[in-house]
Formats: sequence, structure tokens, C-alpha cells
Amino acid sequence: MINELNQLRANALEQLAPIGDDRALEQWRITFLGRKGALAALMEKLGTLPKEERAAAGKLANETKAALEAAFQAKLGAVKQRALSESLESEPLDVTLPGRPRPRGRLHPATRNLREIYRIWRDMGFQVFLSREVESDEMNFQLLNIPPHHPARDNWSTFYIAGSEQGVLLRTHTSPGQIRAMRALSANGTQPLRVILPGMCYRYEQVSARYEIQFNQVEGLAVGRHVTFADLKGTLTEFARRMFGERPVRFYADHFPFTEPSAQMDVQCIICDGAGCPLCKFTGFLEILGAGMVHPQVLRNGGYDPDVWSGFAFGLGPERIAMLKHSIEDIRYFWGNDLRFLEQF
Ligand code: DAH
Repeated sequence: MINELNQLRANALEQLAPIGDDRALEQWRITFLGRKGALAALMEKLGTLPKEERAAAGKLANETKAALEAAFQAKLGAVKQRALSESLESEPLDVTLPGRPRPRGRLHPATRNLREIYRIWRDMGFQVFLSREVESDEMNFQLLNIPPHHPARDNWSTFYIAGSEQGVLLRTHTSPGQIRAMRALSANGTQPLRVILPGMCYRYEQVSARYEIQFNQVEGLAVGRHVTFADLKGTLTEFARRMFGERPVRFYADHFPFTEPSAQMDVQCIICDGAGCPLCKFTGFLEILGAGMVHPQVLRNGGYDPDVWSGFAFGLGPERIAMLKHSIEDIRYFWGNDLRFLEQF
């Protein structure tokens, strides 16, 4: 038995030496180390040996197995290494070749601008409330104190949905969201709220550098038990500071049917710092938003008792703000999808 094991080992190693590819190597493994291979066959005979010989033979069998396995692993490594260097030589790879550039996508400038506005309002405690783009005449106008045939309707050139007998329209501003937000958020009892309502609005305009038939607005609404005009001024001034940096703002009286009193807010011109230039039409200030104290009837229409609750609201045009910030001279660039414009952001 001892002889047979030594013989097997010598034989196996002799056959292993010239092997150079993994097919032959696998064949060798099966022949000598496989479950039905030569070594296994010898080990099976161990049990038939007389007791005195069994221990020594068993030990040698194990050593033989370990030696053959080690030799196999070493050869396997050598064979793989050789295959690798051969393939490197036969298929040379030029690592100095420049890669293929992958064009990177990016967010639309209007989206980026909107997100910045969301972030500022979020930091000031306002949540986003999404309202619908297709509205009823009642929501878009009547519940905001603009009855049918009211001359104020001239301010909102409206797209009506065909066949709806003028009852359904594309919202002309985000203000109807005020009613929807108040009704939705006070469904289980009136409570204070602070929301912004962003989204697309539509107007039947002659398209020009200043007017588009579609544009975003961001509406804001804060309702509470003691909300005052001072809160309106303080909050909007802080928004302007975060959006445009440290520069003067001014408020002056305006009129909107759904707020009383109503105001406009201007921010000092970001091009000329108030000196006067074509952007601010030599006034030194840029008009940023409309705002006001929510009209008592509008509060009532939203389910809030105006004897207990008060609030302020505002509406701003994000594309207009982006135009001011980035000196974009034509609003049509926003939805024209001209990559030469979009890639600048
Ligand atoms: N909805 C107005 C517009 O489209 C903007 C506006 C003005 C909204 C005053 C308001 C507000 O909430 O208080 O021109």
C-alpha cells in the first residue's frame, strides 16, 4: 500500500508537470483526485488492510492527497496567469484612447428656480399644496370675489374648455388653490395653515418677450388667529432677502378683488442697485409679487370665520423672478426647448 501510494504520487506529479491548459488540468484532477479517481480507489482499500498497517498507510494517503491538491492549485494559478498574458498579447488594449463622452442630463432652469423658491418657503415653515390646473369658473373667479361680467375679469384673459358653457377653464392664476387648500386642510376643523401653491397657469395672451400663454405661479397663503399686515410685510421681506440677497424692498397699494388691503412688493433693481437702468425702466425697483390680506369673504368661502381668523396671501411669478436673476430678456425661452438656452443652466 505504501508503495502504491508513493507510486501514485510520483506518477501524478510527473503527468502534471507538462500540462499547460485548463482542459488538460481538469482531466488530470479527475483522474487522480476525482471522486472515482486513482487516489480515491486506493483510499477505499485502506479499510481492508490489517490493523497494524492501517494507521501508517492512512497517514501517507492523507499526505499524498494534500500534496496533490497543493500541486493542482499551484498549476491552476500558473495556467490562469499564462492565459491572461496570452490574451493581453493577442488583444492589445490601448488605455490611452479617450473614453466616449456621455452627455449629462440636467434639470430645466424653470424647475431649478421653482425648487429654490420651494426651499426658501419650506425653511420658513410653508408646506406645498398642489391644486388643479383645470378649474371651475366658480373657483377661479367667483369665490375670489370676481362674479360673472365683473370688469376685473379683463385682467385674466381666459382659456375656456370648449363645450363647458364657460364653466370649466384652465386656471389663470394659482389663487383658486387658496379656496381648495383652506377647504381641504380644515375639513376636520379649522386650524392655522401656511401653504404655498405652485403650478402652471394659462392665459389667452398675445405671446411676446414679456407674455406667454403658460407660466408658473407660486401662490402663498397663511391663515391664523392673529395674522396681520405686519406679518405679510415681514414674511415677504424675508423671502426677498433669501431670494435676492440684502437689498431694499418697498410696498405700495394695489388692488386685487380677493385681498383687502392689497399690495405690490418691489425689490431694488439687481442690475443697477437702484441707480436706474433699462431693466427697471429707470425706476430703480423691480416688481416681484402681488399680495394682500385675505378678503373676509374669501376666508368664509374657504370655511374660515373671518371674525376669528385672518390671513395674508401672495402670488409671484417664478419665471419672471428667474428672468430678473439671470438677465433673461425673453420669456419665450422657457418653453421653447432650445438647447442653446437650456444648457446655460
Ligand atoms: N392671482 C394674482 C394674479 O394672478 C396674483 C395675486 C395677487 C395673488 C395678490 C395673491 C394676492 O394671492 O394676494 O395676478
